[in-house]
Amino acid sequence: MTSRRFILDCDPGQDDAIAILLALGSHELAFEAITIVAGNVGADQGAANARRILDLAGADRPIYRGAPRALLKPYDLGERFHGGDGLMGLDLPPPSRPPEAEHAVSFLARTLLAAEPGSIDLACVGPLTNLALLLIQYPDAARGLGRVAIMGGAIGLGNVSPAAEFNIHSDAAAAAVVFSAGLDVILVPLDLTHQALGTDARIAALKATGRPTALAVAELLARYPRLEKFNYQGGPLHDPCAVAALIWPEMVSGRHVAVEIDASGGPSHGRTLVHWWPKSTGPRPNALVLSEIDADQFYHHLSNRV
Ligand code: RIB
Ligand code: CA
Repeated sequence: MTSRRFILDCDPGQDDAIAILLALGSHELAFEAITIVAGNVGADQGAANARRILDLAGADRPIYRGAPRALLKPYDLGERFHGGDGLMGLDLPPPSRPPEAEHAVSFLARTLLAAEPGSIDLACVGPLTNLALLLIQYPDAARGLGRVAIMGGAIGLGNVSPAAEFNIHSDAAAAAVVFSAGLDVILVPLDLTHQALGTDARIAALKATGRPTALAVAELLARYPRLEKFNYQGGPLHDPCAVAALIWPEMVSGRHVAVEIDASGGPSHGRTLVHWWPKSTGPRPNALVLSEIDADQFYHHLSNRV
């Protein structure tokens, strides 16, 4: 398999950091750049965290800061879930260098406009503000996009409310723009990521590799709160599942259905309305919504790649 050109849009974030390491370690992806959106932490902190993770891996990729806030309102940052610095207090040196001066949306536009049609895969694992801004300001740039894997939403219950998942809820207006743009969207919702729990056995397997990057992943997983809703077995590893869906499509399954976004501001604001049982009178399918992952296979490969 030849490598696919790949860009990661993220808000590092504990699981974003692991997604960066998985992408770095996967020959199937020609990992070109990281764009940052505020979400778990502010854009500056997110850019610094991305550089700290690249430094840990001895890797160098350009990092471009993007939206510091959602389209319609400032974010309610998710720092409470990822520790004040966004990496759960992981003991890493300060970043070796600052992010690029160019804005993420400008970088994405010039890169995609110059690319062969459909040649660049994108994973969005934070709020969708950068992608929405790109589509609004440079609609022709979408031509360069191949698969767009989005970690977000839920077929069932959300995580920031019964209705909504954090990334979509953080900027529901941006999500509405993205899901109506006709992109080749692969949605990786909580229903899938909640199958990928960082259990003690999986942490032990990462530790057994002895690699500093894998040890850091093990430590991040170990620091994840053990919640009743996961039977205290371990935390769900959200963002790397979106990268895995691009690397190992055979590891996941789902349906091509319609997804609508509730951006109403009401009690179900941020909901992904997934038409899992489509009706002929319903909206047209606009995403491959994934509902299953082979979690054992995922962690086996993760341990070999990070
Ligand atoms: O709801 C999970 C998502 O929100 C993940 O991307 C996590 O990093 C946070 O951004
Ligand atoms: Ca994230």
